[in-house]
Amino acid sequence: MKEIVPSPPPLVHNQFESVRELFSKNVIPSYGRFELVLSHGAGSYLFDVAGKRYLDLGAGIAVCCLGHAHPAITEALVEQSKKLIHVSNLYFTEPQGRLAAELVKRIGPGKCFFANSGAEANEGLFKLARKFGHAEGRFEILTATNSFHGRTMAGIAATGQDKVKKGFEPMTPGFRHIPFNDLEAARAALSPATVAIMIEGVQGEGGITPATPEYLLGLRTLCDEKKLLLFMDGVQCGHYRSGKFQSFQRILEKGEGRRVADPNIQGQRHVVPPEFLPDGISMAKSLGGGFPIGAFWVRAPYQDLLGPGTHASTFGGTPLACAVALKVLEVIEQERLYENARKLGEWFKQQLERLAITCPRVIKCSRGLGFMLGFELVPDIARLPGNPAGPQSLRFVNLLHEAGLLTIPAGANVIRLLPPLNLQRGEAEAGLDIIESTVKSLYRQT
Ligand SMILES: Cc1ncc(COP(=O)(O)O)c(C=O)c1O
Repeated sequence: MKEIVPSPPPLVHNQFESVRELFSKNVIPSYGRFELVLSHGAGSYLFDVAGKRYLDLGAGIAVCCLGHAHPAITEALVEQSKKLIHVSNLYFTEPQGRLAAELVKRIGPGKCFFANSGAEANEGLFKLARKFGHAEGRFEILTATNSFHGRTMAGIAATGQDKVKKGFEPMTPGFRHIPFNDLEAARAALSPATVAIMIEGVQGEGGITPATPEYLLGLRTLCDEKKLLLFMDGVQCGHYRSGKFQSFQRILEKGEGRRVADPNIQGQRHVVPPEFLPDGISMAKSLGGGFPIGAFWVRAPYQDLLGPGTHASTFGGTPLACAVALKVLEVIEQERLYENARKLGEWFKQQLERLAITCPRVIKCSRGLGFMLGFELVPDIARLPGNPAGPQSLRFVNLLHEAGLLTIPAGANVIRLLPPLNLQRGEAEAGLDIIESTVKSLYRQT
């Protein structure tokens, strides 16, 4: 399927300047954009309006999990749009019900709500926590430093990074931050008003930092002990990017399936079930493979807390969005793309680690798991082109752009690789070649 490459558009003149002008005159400049005007894509490649080709290892920041212009997504969009694009959530539709069932099947007993974005999915979980603690006057949600949970007012209050809050104070009340992967700090931070803890399984915007198994299991125990809800933001790290549907399933997989002594029957051993479940999970990004859709799943004991009239979204879970999301899941499963993310991701990480060893004045280390990878640059790399006052990550990403590779910066020094789950070995090698030659040419100058 990936071999089907759409023919290039008839456009032959370079629209760069005219598109830039449309933006500078008409689009609110809230994004720091790279100087690229993109025109179309095919598989793991994107093309700019001048016809230059880029290998896309950013996938729209972990969104285009099947790459660009995937025929199965196009077909699902066309077929469903011929039947029904939208109806109000005042009515039932089959695709929404089927998608909810598919998500529940992959996570555990519970129910789902559909939204349009990651921020909106998180908002729903925040409301669930408020509802849960309301009678006792508990409302406070703890989130991690360096976390990212979206750009709405509650999203920036929840995000553990000052840069997203600056200029928008006062913050929505009810959020405090705790150091990530520090269980004792979480315990010490609890107050009588605390009702929930939310973390990412792998921090994305914060620079690709996975939670440790001990932290996840410890938070579960702490939340059970103190009657708190445990939420996981799976917006970026979810949907098979880690090699399993949700990142916690990957992080905790080593214990799962292990045979241990059965306390009830002497001499018998039993298999450890995958016991860990959070109480809520937010999803978006790859869920629709590029078509906007968000969702949150709520564990069975709390699944009916948001009763009729308590939460809603006009566009949440339209037949069109759900039909596409169902197709994306089907392709991932049929083509076992989670195995590709796991195996090729492991290979890529090892190669980045090798680069960190051979070019220690440029790369400090590699990070992540599956297809949620990153490498950290050494601070103050000599002769890195670009404005020295600007973050190194942006300057490095610009260098890669010149060489025909798209990656995503995170913070000042981390470069993220969030490729489509169907990236091919040859494409991964081509991406590595570009990174390697860029790093080596910098290394020679340092
Ligand atoms: C972990 C995480 N949560 C939430 C969001 C917000 O998602 P959206 O931009 O779809 O609102 C993002 C976006 O990058 C994210 O990475």
